Amino acid sequence: MLILNKTAGVFFKPSKRKVYEFLRSFNFHPGTLFLHKIVLGIETSCDDTAAAVVDETGNVLGEAIHSQTEVHLKTGGIVPAVAQQLHRDNIQRIVQEALSASRISPSDLSAIATTIKPGLALSLGVGLSFSIQLVGQLKKPFIPIHHMEAHALTIRLTNKVEFPFLVLLISGGHCLLALVQGVSDFLLLGKSLDIAPGDMLDKVARRLSLIKHPECSTMSGGKAIEHLAKQGNRFHFDIKPPLHHAKNCDFSFTGLQQVINKRIRKKEKEEGIEEGQVLSSAADIAATVQHTMACHIVKRTHRAILFCKQRDLLPQNNAVLVASGGVASNFYVRRTLEVLTNATQCTLLCPPPRLCTDNGIMIAWNGIERLRAGLGILHDIEGIRYEPKCPLGVDISKEVEEAAIKVPQLKMEI
Ligand code: KG4
Ligand code: ZN
Repeated sequence: MLILNKTAGVFFKPSKRKVYEFLRSFNFHPGTLFLHKIVLGIETSCDDTAAAVVDETGNVLGEAIHSQTEVHLKTGGIVPAVAQQLHRDNIQRIVQEALSASRISPSDLSAIATTIKPGLALSLGVGLSFSIQLVGQLKKPFIPIHHMEAHALTIRLTNKVEFPFLVLLISGGHCLLALVQGVSDFLLLGKSLDIAPGDMLDKVARRLSLIKHPECSTMSGGKAIEHLAKQGNRFHFDIKPPLHHAKNCDFSFTGLQQVINKRIRKKEKEEGIEEGQVLSSAADIAATVQHTMACHIVKRTHRAILFCKQRDLLPQNNAVLVASGGVASNFYVRRTLEVLTNATQCTLLCPPPRLCTDNGIMIAWNGIERLRAGLGILHDIEGIRYEPKCPLGVDISKEVEEAAIKVPQLKMEI
C-alpha cells in the first residue's frame, strides 16, 4: 500500500502503524486482515480492574479500568476481601468495555494475557478464573503475565528501546532495580528490604489524615503527598536517607516512615492538635518525605548504573534508565532521576503517568512481546495457578554488594 505524502507530493511505503492509523481515520477496523497479533490483557493483581486490547504495533484499540482507590482510602488501606468482591463486580463489564471500544470481534484475538503473579492472592484469583473461562469459550491461547515484567516493558510500547536497559520499578507493592536483557530475561540488582515507597507514602498520607484535606480527599497517598509537597519546604526537617552506609542497591522505607511519624507526633503536640486532624505543617512534612525518598532512590539507582557499566552490562554512553510503577508518575522523583542520568550520560525514559500505574495496556503489550518472542504461550491451561509471591529474574544483588561501589555525591538542585 502506498500513501501520498501531501507535503512532499510523493508516494511512500508507510509502516504498519501508519497504515493502521490511516485506515482508522476512516473508521475502518481491519482486524486480522492486516494485523496478525491482537491481544486482550487483563489485570487484577491489586486494586484496579483493568483490561485493554493492543495490537502488535502498539496501537491501543480499546481500554477500560475500574479503580478501587476511593473505597480503599475510606477503609485506610486495601482490605483483600473487599478488593476481591470489587474485582468480581466489575471484571465482566471492564473486559466487555475494552473489547467493545476496540470494535474487533473476540474471534480476532490472537491470545488472552492475564496477570497471574505477583499480587494479592484474592485479587489475582478473580482475573485468573475469569480468563480461564474466557479462554475456554473463545478457544484462544493463554499468556500468563508477571506484573513487574509488564511494568518494565511498557516503555517499549511508547518508545523505541532496545535491550539491555536498566529498570527502576517503584510502586505501592514493589521496589526493585533490574537489568532487562530480554522479554523474560532479567537480572535483579536490588530490592526493598521492607515496604515499597508507595506503601510508605500511603501510610504517611494516612497518618497526616490527608483524606480530610480539601485538595487531596480523592487522591492516592502518593499523589496527595506530591500535590502538597509543592506548597511545602523540603528543608523544614533534616532527615538522613536510609541505608546510608550499605554499599548495595537495596532499599528500605520503614525507618523513614517511623522517623516521619515521630516528627508528626512532635508537631501535633506543638500545634496542640489530636491525631486525625490536618497539621498546618503537613505540606512541609510531605515535601521532606518526598525529597528524602527521592534521594534514597537516586543513590541506589546511581550505584546500579555504575555497577552495570563496570561489568559492561550497559553501554558506557547513552545507556537507558527506565522508571515505572505508580511512584514513577511522581514528577519530583522524575526530576531527581534526571539529575542522575545527566550526570552519568544516561537517558531517562518514563511511560506517561497513566501507564506507570496499573493498567490493562501493559498486560496486553506484554502478551504481544511474548507472542513475538514465542515465550510462554499456553495452549493448555490445565493446572495453571496464580502466585502471590514471585521474584523477578535472576538475583545478583549479592554480587552488587560485593562490588561495594562508592557513589559520588550528586547536587540535587531542583
Ligand atoms: O503501580 P501501582 O498503580 O500499583 C502497584 O502498587 O502495583 O502503584 C500504586 C502506588 C500507590 O502507593 C500510590 O500512592 C503511588 O503508587 N502513587 C504515587 C503517585 N501516584 C500514585 N506516588 C507518588 N507520587 C504520585 N504522583
Ligand atoms: Zn503495579
